[in-house]
Amino acid sequence: MRLIKKISRMRDYSKKIKGTRVIGFVPTMGSLHEGHLSLIRKARQQCEEVMISIFVNPTQFGKGEDYQRYPRDLSKDMKLSEKEGVDVIFAPSREEMYPQGYSTFVEIKGNLSSTLEGASRPGHFKGVATILTKLFNIINPDYSYFGEKDYQQALVVKKLVKELNLDTRILVLPTIRGKDGLALSSRNSYLNKKERTAATIFYKVLKRAKEWVGEGEKDPSALVSKMRALIEKEPLVRIDYVAVVNPKTLEKVKEVRGEVLALLAVNIGETRLIDNIKLADS
Ligand code: PAF
Repeated sequence: MRLIKKISRMRDYSKKIKGTRVIGFVPTMGSLHEGHLSLIRKARQQCEEVMISIFVNPTQFGKGEDYQRYPRDLSKDMKLSEKEGVDVIFAPSREEMYPQGYSTFVEIKGNLSSTLEGASRPGHFKGVATILTKLFNIINPDYSYFGEKDYQQALVVKKLVKELNLDTRILVLPTIRGKDGLALSSRNSYLNKKERTAATIFYKVLKRAKEWVGEGEKDPSALVSKMRALIEKEPLVRIDYVAVVNPKTLEKVKEVRGEVLALLAVNIGETRLIDNIKLADS
């Protein structure tokens, strides 16, 4: 396994491989967990060369967010990656990706990036779109893998790739959960024991929402109210949003008909967590 820190080396290596071996790419911010490993395993099955990036991207964090304390452990990530058969880790420094005077950004306008996470975290998707455009340009992967936990991010990335004609195919894989149902996230490491227990409410509520729909609930506002009421029973949790939307456009639906998506974002202590589930009427 190679560890590459310089853009020029990474670009040279990818250029050599491109066209001779199918390149699968998993962009990450490190602190790898089973969610990332499931993406790496899929890339390993489908591609001949597996590359991952590890970069805590400052431009996607807002003021007062957790950029400084975001968990970083490159040596542990390297061991895990090696075990999964990763060929290359690209782990550039902040200065390498954003040298002094850096001022070029990619912005996706419209509802898809301005609603939900976009509304709660202004500028977040601009940072995500910018870093991914850079990484796709440097690595030039045939396939790029994302997790469904960050549902909105996956939609935004697909739009980015389509509209900028970037030459990679986006694959989105299911959320990996702990035994208690909590979606795996690097941010779960911030939770203390009590918070971790409280956090299991999110998946319970999402699953309950699915049952309500199965039982015939068609009214999205009623669904949202019932979900909020259940979450509010947990005193450690503060709701940011609970939404029932069209899974393609993320626009609010007037009725639960066909497939709809329920998403939530909550704060528990100092930790912000998101999750989602697809709901389908019967
Ligand atoms: O999902 C993440 O970890 C990040 O948003 C990503 C895609 C690696 C971009 O920094």
